[in-house]
Amino acid sequence: MLEKIMIKLIKSTFYNEDEMKSSLADFILNAQILSMGEQCKNIENAFAQKQQRKYAVFVSNGSVANLLLVQSMINLGFIKKGDKVGFSALTWPTNVMPLIQLGLEPVAIDCELETLNVSPIRFKEQISGLKCLFLTNVLGFCDALPEIKALCDQENIILMEDNCESLGSKVNGQLLGNYGIASTFSFFVGHHMSTIEGGMVCTDDEALYESLVMGRAHGWDRNLSESSQQALRRSSGVDDFYAKYTFYDLASNYRPTEINGFIGNAQVRYWDEIVSKRESNFKTFQSAMKSNEDFYQFDLSHMDIISNFSMPIICKDSNMAKKYRGKFDEIGAEIRPVIAGNMTKQPFYKKYVSNSSDLPNSDLVHSNGFYFGNNPELTDSEINELCSLIQS
Ligand SMILES: Cc1ncc(COP(=O)(O)O)c(C=O)c1O
Repeated sequence: MLEKIMIKLIKSTFYNEDEMKSSLADFILNAQILSMGEQCKNIENAFAQKQQRKYAVFVSNGSVANLLLVQSMINLGFIKKGDKVGFSALTWPTNVMPLIQLGLEPVAIDCELETLNVSPIRFKEQISGLKCLFLTNVLGFCDALPEIKALCDQENIILMEDNCESLGSKVNGQLLGNYGIASTFSFFVGHHMSTIEGGMVCTDDEALYESLVMGRAHGWDRNLSESSQQALRRSSGVDDFYAKYTFYDLASNYRPTEINGFIGNAQVRYWDEIVSKRESNFKTFQSAMKSNEDFYQFDLSHMDIISNFSMPIICKDSNMAKKYRGKFDEIGAEIRPVIAGNMTKQPFYKKYVSNSSDLPNSDLVHSNGFYFGNNPELTDSEINELCSLIQS
C-alpha cells in the first residue's frame, strides 16, 4: 500500500503567505478606508504596466470581469442582442454564461489536442455569421493566436480574450491577453496571482475603458476623469447636484475592496518569479510525460513563454484515463477534470442553448483528460513524485 502524501492543487492563499498575511493585518489595522480607493487605483496602474496595456479596471472576480466586458461591449453598441459570439468549447462556465445572460448567441468552437486551444482551422469551421470571438487562452497555452487575430481582422470579427488562466504567457513576443480589444484576468486563489477574490479587464480602447469603469459601479460617472464627467453631464443635460445620482447605462456593482487592492500591489511584484516557476515546472512535467505513449503529446513549440495554470494529461482512451486518475488518487495527489470539459455537455448550457456543433476533441478531453496542480510553491520532491506518475 502506497503512503498518501497529499499534493494539493492549491498550496496557499497567496504567494509568500506568511509575510503577506502579516503585512495585510497591519494594513487593515491602519487603513482609514477599506472600500475601493487608492490601493485599487495603484494595482490598476501596476497591472496595466506589467501587461503592457493602456488601461486596467480592477473588479471583484474573473467571472464578473467577463460579464462586465460583455455588458460594456453591448452598451457601446459594438455587439447587440442576438449576435453570434464564438467561444472556446473547452473553457470555464463563466466565460460563456455572460453571453447567455446578456442575450447573445454562443457558438462553441472545438480545441486542438496538441494545444487544447482553438486553432485557425477550428475557428474557420464555425466562423460564418460570427460578430465576435470570446476566446479563452486555456491553461497558459495558446494555438496560433496571431493568425486567429489576423482572421478576425480580415472578417471584421471583434476578438476578446479570457486570459484568466494565462497570465504571463507569450507568443510571437507578445503577452497573451494583448491580442484582442480587451482581455480578462482572475485573481482567485490558485490563479497565477491571487488577491483572494479579484479580477481585471485590460484594454487600450479609451471608450471601452470608460464604459467598463461606469459599468463596474452602478452606471454612474463618479470614477471617470473630470473632463469625461463634464462632457457626459453636458451631453445629457445633468446638473452638478443630480450628477451624483445619474446612471448612464446598464451596470451593476463589481467593485473590489482596498483589501484586494493591497494584496494585489504586493503580489504583482512576484509576477516574473511566479511565471518562471510555473513555466519551469511545466517543462519538467512535459519532459516526464514525453515518452509515455498512453498520452496525447502537446506541441507548444510556437510559444515564447508557457505560464502554465495546471498540468493537463489527455489519455488515449477512457480506460487509461481511469488507470492514471487512480494512480493520482492512490497517493493523494489532487486532480480535476480539464476545466469544464466539453462545455456544451454542461446542464446549464443544454438548458439555454439549442444550437449544437460537433466537438470531437473537446469530447475526448472531457472523457479522457484530467489535470493536476502546477503552482510556484511545489517542492522538488512533490515535482518528482508527480513526474513518476506520468512517466512511461
Ligand atoms: C477561463 C476562466 N474564465 C473565468 C474564470 C472565473 O474567474 P473567477 O473564479 O475569478 O470568477 C475562471 C476561473 O477559474 C477561468 O478559468
